[in-house]
Amino acid sequence: MIRLNRLSHSFGPNWALKDVSLHIGKGEFIFLTGHSGAGKTTLMRLLYGALPLKRGQATVAGFDLHDMKRGQIPMLRRELGVVFQDFKILPNRSVYENVALALTVRSMPKSTVDKRVRAIIRALGLENKSYTKCRQLSGGEQQRVAIARAMVVNPKLILADEPTGNLDFELSLHLMEVFKQFNTHGTTVVMATHSREILRTVPDARIIHLEDGQLCDPPAHLLEECCPC
Ligand SMILES: Nc1ncnc2c1ncn2[C@@H]1O[C@H](COP(=O)(O)OP(=O)(O)OP(=O)(O)O)[C@@H](O)[C@H]1O
Ligand SMILES: [Mg+2]
Repeated sequence: MIRLNRLSHSFGPNWALKDVSLHIGKGEFIFLTGHSGAGKTTLMRLLYGALPLKRGQATVAGFDLHDMKRGQIPMLRRELGVVFQDFKILPNRSVYENVALALTVRSMPKSTVDKRVRAIIRALGLENKSYTKCRQLSGGEQQRVAIARAMVVNPKLILADEPTGNLDFELSLHLMEVFKQFNTHGTTVVMATHSREILRTVPDARIIHLEDGQLCDPPAHLLEECCPC
C-alpha cells in the first residue's frame, strides 16, 4: 500500500525527514510515533500529496508520487481517507454537509450518500448534531466530524494524524473500535499518536517510530505492557 525508499524532506535548511525507507502492506494497522517535531505530520502530508516529493521514491495506493502530475493528486486523494491534525472542516457547514461533501466527487445516488453519511455519523456518536454548524461544536466533536469525513468514502488507506488528540479516554476507546472495524474489513490504517494508551488498543499493530526525522526503534516505554495492578 505504501513503499518509501530513502525519502527526505527539508523546509529551507532544516531536514524534517531524513532517508526514510519503509513498506506498509495492505490491511496493516500502523502507529506512527515520535516526539513533537519528529516529522509525523510531514510524512503524512507527503503521503497524501500536500507536499511535493523532493528526494527519494514513494508509492502510495498504486500512485508513484515521483511521476505524479498535480492533476493526479485528486485521484490519489480519492483512494484515501485523511484525518488532518487541524481537522480542516468547513465551519459554516453542518456536520451532515461536511461529511456528505467527501462523497460529492464520486457520482453516487443521493439515497446512497444519505445512508452512508447517516451510518458514519451514528457510529461516531454525532447523530444529535447532524444539522449543527461545525463552528458551534466542541473540539472533540469537530475531531469526530473530521474522522467521519475520512471514513465515509470507505477508503483503501486511512491516514489519521492524532485523531484522538482532543477526546476523552472513553471516547478515544470507542473511536479506536471504529478504526479497528475498518481495518478488519481490509482498510490500511496509518495513525500518528503520542498516547501509550492508544497504542495498547491495537496490540497487533506495528509501530513506526521517528526521531528527528529518522526511523528508529520505538523506545522501550512505548512497548511496555500496562501494570496489571
Ligand atoms: N510548513 C513548514 N515550514 C517550516 N518548517 C516546518 C513546516 N512544517 C513542519 N516544519 C518543521 O518540520 C519538523 C517536523 O514537523 P512535523 O509537523 O512533521 O512534526 P510532528 O512529528 O507532526 O509534530 P507534532 O507531534 O507536534 O504534531 C519540525 O521541526 C517543524 O518545525
Ligand atoms: Mg504533527
